[in-house]
Amino acid sequence: MNAAVIGLGYVGLPLSIRLAQTGFGVLGIDKDQKKIELLGKNLLPFGLREPNLLSFFKQAQVSKNLKFTSTYEEIKDVDIIFISVDTPVEKRQPDIASLLAATKSIAKHLKKNQIIVIESTVAPKTTQDLIIPLLEKLSKLKLNRDFFVAVVPERIRPNYIFKQLTTLPRVIGVSDLRIKKELRIIYSKITTGKLNFTDLATAEVVKTVENAYRDVNIAFANEIALACEDLGVDVWKIRELVNKSPWRDMHKPGSGVGGHCIPKDPWLLASSVKKHQMRLIETARSINDNMPAHIFALAEEALKEKKIKIASANLAILGYAYVGNSDDTRNSPTESLIQILKNKKVKYKVHDPYVKDFSNHSVEMTAKGADVLIIMVNHDVYKKINYKKVAKVIKTKIIIDGRNLVPAELVRKLGFVYKGVGNTS
Ligand SMILES: NC(=O)c1ccc[n+]([C@@H]2O[C@H](COP(=O)([O-])OP(=O)(O)OC[C@H]3O[C@@H](n4cnc5c(N)ncnc54)[C@H](O)[C@@H]3O)[C@@H](O)[C@H]2O)c1
Repeated sequence: MNAAVIGLGYVGLPLSIRLAQTGFGVLGIDKDQKKIELLGKNLLPFGLREPNLLSFFKQAQVSKNLKFTSTYEEIKDVDIIFISVDTPVEKRQPDIASLLAATKSIAKHLKKNQIIVIESTVAPKTTQDLIIPLLEKLSKLKLNRDFFVAVVPERIRPNYIFKQLTTLPRVIGVSDLRIKKELRIIYSKITTGKLNFTDLATAEVVKTVENAYRDVNIAFANEIALACEDLGVDVWKIRELVNKSPWRDMHKPGSGVGGHCIPKDPWLLASSVKKHQMRLIETARSINDNMPAHIFALAEEALKEKKIKIASANLAILGYAYVGNSDDTRNSPTESLIQILKNKKVKYKVHDPYVKDFSNHSVEMTAKGADVLIIMVNHDVYKKINYKKVAKVIKTKIIIDGRNLVPAELVRKLGFVYKGVGNTS
């Protein structure tokens, strides 16, 4: 079988590789010429730290089956078309520019009996209300007579892409039950996970709810962390004991929520709901978005204890990626923290071993002469920091721990003021 994958980002490129591994001829399409050029030279445009991405990409079987282009003409020759373009939000509303452009380009070349699979995360009802009417109008073909549509939202996350792509259960919304058999065959090659068939809208809602669930639960943990600071107890002890009670699963608080998905998918869900205001989702977003500002407040408070004004302090920030052990910086909480520092004209240095602009110096060099060390990201390397060495080079001994990574007792013994999110006393 032949497949086309539209949008070769964090979702589309691994999907293309996986399809090529399982014997599909894959036409990978991206509007980004630079990306196509790099891929054509057998080079990865991103994700060098992603386990297996590079090695699978370079497999002979994969190279033989993959072809990259920025034009759509050849999709007329494929059996199935996967859409995996970006679907961001702008001012809490879906930005459908990429989705619309891809749909229009597909429609121009659509042929009878093709299946279009939407792997991108879309606001509920987008497929029925927007994508299908556009495809029918521009192609003059009819849904479920001439072509078919499925919604199969991707569930991967950085650092685990291939593990999750090949094992997670999938939700498969179909426009017509007649394509169930074919999709079962295709997705059984992609994943060993269970395949759950449903309708288009249900699949769209499931995906956005999955990420809204996570956002709301992290917000709950963050709110409890703030309460624990107020009450003078340690949120991590509280979480441990709460989770011993049956049916409790308190998430982890921290320095913020980033990435391409969690901060925007709750808005995709809320944008489609017309008669009910999704207050919990709005509140959760606001709590999570405020965590970088809370990190700033903790730094300011600790400096005050040392009689230093934040305006005259130097801050050393560890971690710029949005998640541990990754180089993905999309919607990074550190970026939000830096914006606050810039607005307030506070001096800072950043270290991140995986992000090019911040990787050419060590943790100790970053901490040298600083007044505060702030841990924003739980990279494994930050679990092995030598605080005795840091104590020798830092100017003022203050640590703000956004990820519960620092051995609080040890650093306090070394004379540091330690404040962690949800653990400040
Ligand atoms: N990143 C993740 O971990 C993840 C996980 C699950 C679901 N998703 C969802 O999958 C979708 C893709 O996410 P991503 O992280 O891969 O995004 P991305 O930004 O990494 O990649 C999107 C790609 O689509 C290309 N593109 C945009 N418009 C195009 C067009 N008209 N024609 C051809 N190419 C076009 C862009 O150039 C880009 O390379 C989003 O809906 C996202 O919410 C992402």
